[in-house]
Amino acid sequence: MAFLSDMLARVKPSPTIAVTNKARELKAAGRDVIGLGAGEPDFDTPQNIKDAATRAIAEGKTKYTAVDGIPELKQAIRDKFLRDNGLDYTPAQISVGTGGKQVLYNAFVATLNPSDEVVIPAPYWVSYPDMVLLAGGVPVVAEAGIETGFKLSPEALEAAITDRTKWFIFNSPSNPTGAGYTEEELRGLTDVLLRHPHVWVLTDDMYEHLVFDGFTFVTPAQVEPRLKDRTLTVNGVSKAYSMTGWRIGYAGGPEELIAAMRKVQSQSTSNPCSISQWAAVEALNGPQDFIGSNNAAFRRRRDLVVAGLNDCPGIICPVPEGAFYVYPSIAGCIGKVTVGGARIDDDEAFATALLDEEGVAVVFGSAFGLSPHFRVSYATSDDSLAEACSRIRRFCEALS
Ligand SMILES: Cc1ncc(COP(=O)(O)O)c(C=O)c1O
Repeated sequence: MAFLSDMLARVKPSPTIAVTNKARELKAAGRDVIGLGAGEPDFDTPQNIKDAATRAIAEGKTKYTAVDGIPELKQAIRDKFLRDNGLDYTPAQISVGTGGKQVLYNAFVATLNPSDEVVIPAPYWVSYPDMVLLAGGVPVVAEAGIETGFKLSPEALEAAITDRTKWFIFNSPSNPTGAGYTEEELRGLTDVLLRHPHVWVLTDDMYEHLVFDGFTFVTPAQVEPRLKDRTLTVNGVSKAYSMTGWRIGYAGGPEELIAAMRKVQSQSTSNPCSISQWAAVEALNGPQDFIGSNNAAFRRRRDLVVAGLNDCPGIICPVPEGAFYVYPSIAGCIGKVTVGGARIDDDEAFATALLDEEGVAVVFGSAFGLSPHFRVSYATSDDSLAEACSRIRRFCEALS
């Protein structure tokens, strides 16, 4: 009898975590490596949020809590959905988990039966297909390439939907491309979804607050209220509040779905960390002005990286609306050979050679389901980004 499950064999470890770990190991071994792999802001968690956590510890708020969130946090989330998205979710329609990741996983485990399909636009966040597989479902990838600004067309969505489709995953601004859908673009998709009442919508709004140049964020249940009773609106504090390590994510959705997700969570992690929940109350209720100053830094870095990469022969880098990623094409580098003698047959070969020869760690596009590309996370200092861009340019200029 095999010791490991058959299901485990179907999934792969997170490639973004693998790249981050490899860059860390090389640095520890003394190599001069610039890591552009990690999907987390380099800013510290704001002091008022840290203070709320230390207060929670001092006040003994250190015990098990309600499975899917303390009432104070559910209220803060309720207020946030009303304030930012015009969405009214009661506390019974809100679930808090250990990061957005657990919330998404709970939703899939609670709803997917074998052969249930989940439509995932590509390029996608690396975890969606594997989470669907772990929960026993079937990922159905719908391509959204560089020519449509990495945004799924209504026709491509329509073509991907079958009688077995249970969920459609929507992520704007997106990881890995930073692409954000305008209200009109999103309406094109919600019109399709209205015609398919058996399809549920899972919108991952994790990068809601990280948008630039006056871009207006919109979410499906807000744009099309008739979809609200089959939409799960997922969000979290990780990215906007620089709280990746605190592990708090949340969602609003129909009560029956939220209850099912609670049942899953009650038999896995019991509840999210009590101290982090109190910190998240402060994040959502406290001052929000630092988000604007963080975004100003992100926007400056985005412009620096887009300009730097577009200066590299063989690379085309579109300008994204949000998040802290760019997703350039390396179509012009394919088939060439590096100074070190490596042949660039695909984007994985490109990323491997770039790390080996120039000490720049990026994540190859095939991990996100769309090649030939790579993802840069520009959540690092301007100096590191400028140096990384000049190394990438040297690498590309030397290709023959
Ligand atoms: C699109 C997207 N959704 C969800 C998550 C998970 O966030 P959390 O840290 O809250 O689990 C991430 C993190 O990288 C992400 O990029």
